[in-house]
Amino acid sequence: MSRFIVEGGRRLGGRLKIQGAKNSALPILAATVAVGRPCVIHNCPMLTDIEATLSILKSLGCEVHRSGNSVSVDSSRMSFTEIPDSLMREMRSSIIFLGALISRTGEASVCAPGGCDIGMRPIDLHLFAMEKLGVNLVEEHGHIKCRCQKTTGAKITLSFPSVGATENVILASLRCSGTTTIINAAREPEIVDLARFLNSCGARISGAGESTVTIEGVDRLFPTQYTVMPDRIAACTYMTAAAVTGSDILLEDVAPHHLAPILQCFEQSGCRINVSANRLRLTSSGGLRSIGTIRTMPYPGFPTDCQALIMTMASVSEGTTVICENIFENRFRHASELNRMGANISVHDKIAIVNGVRRLQGASVCAHDLRAGAALTVAGLCAEGTTTVENVHFIDRGYEALEKSLTFIGAKIKRID
Ligand code: EPZ
Repeated sequence: MSRFIVEGGRRLGGRLKIQGAKNSALPILAATVAVGRPCVIHNCPMLTDIEATLSILKSLGCEVHRSGNSVSVDSSRMSFTEIPDSLMREMRSSIIFLGALISRTGEASVCAPGGCDIGMRPIDLHLFAMEKLGVNLVEEHGHIKCRCQKTTGAKITLSFPSVGATENVILASLRCSGTTTIINAAREPEIVDLARFLNSCGARISGAGESTVTIEGVDRLFPTQYTVMPDRIAACTYMTAAAVTGSDILLEDVAPHHLAPILQCFEQSGCRINVSANRLRLTSSGGLRSIGTIRTMPYPGFPTDCQALIMTMASVSEGTTVICENIFENRFRHASELNRMGANISVHDKIAIVNGVRRLQGASVCAHDLRAGAALTVAGLCAEGTTTVENVHFIDRGYEALEKSLTFIGAKIKRID
């Protein structure tokens, strides 16, 4: 198991290019199964979750080639519709293959997906929607076997704007008879990116990014090349690193409009932010103020994936910050690890109360999930002394060599395998 050794107390500086978005690249790669023609995906980040997705594509009989950050997938000669459990369990986004396989072949056999341990993460909304589209579902021996020669367009109201369920309905409806309308769809930018990719293949999706999305079934889809959007959570990660170390950094290849829900938090904490086109400059004196109350919400609210990072920032901000985690029921496990570093955080069900301290102390801490790992690494950057972050494999799921990017802007951090 790899670990990071982080030296605290160094200012950061310089410029950094933001990686392609993990949570956009994953559904887009799964969607190549539905397209059935050669696709080239650019700006695809080098992540273990991406590698797991490429393994699933190969297990289905797709031709897959990676050249740097470009991945070509040709699913035209795909020959299987069952995904091995070992691959399904590697990550949450494997469930998105359900809609893609049904759309392309009329059948799929999957087990419940894996993913970071941040809650139960049921798939009831996915299965509810598939049945509304006319998919026959049989759950036996831990597998979900799906059959539907051609989905029937339907009006589907999601009881929660689930990102994954919205993506699955879009994929399963690509070739439906008639039109599918999703009410209370997720509005995340990753949904817009997926729709843009699919429309570039000839799909007819409208309203992506809004609460009502319409998919008009088509008979054929076509080859395409597509460039994945920047990763807004990675951008927030480096912004937090600069904020807590009193640094001045320039981020390139960002999509500032995706960051709107978090920009005001950084400005409220005392950071100065300048945005131009696809670049963002953050300047921090290091003396941060509490940002009051943070509530994680579906987009365009404050993103749950930035919650751990903001907790790190709050732990060294003057005053008290209240964080309410409304999306996942087990996403505060980094609080106890931050307390090992001298933070003053108390957790009460879905509320965390963070009383800022002057400085954190380096310590040995454990990452329990992807974003918690990033948050603990950032905490090490501003702590006094050395911090060891265990379970770095969680971080590798979502960050392209986090330690190299941080070193590039002046941090002293090394990976010990
Ligand atoms: C996506 O997960 C992201 N993952 C998550 O990012 C992100 O935190 C989440 O959306 C919310 O923005 C990917 O895109 C691969 P949801 P997803 O379905 O699709 C409940 C990261 O760190 N729910 O919107 O799984 C669910 O339990 C990861 O990059 C049901 O109850 O999120 C959760 O409480 C972590 N039934 C809430 O909805 C369902 O059928 C939001 O889940 C589906 C979801």
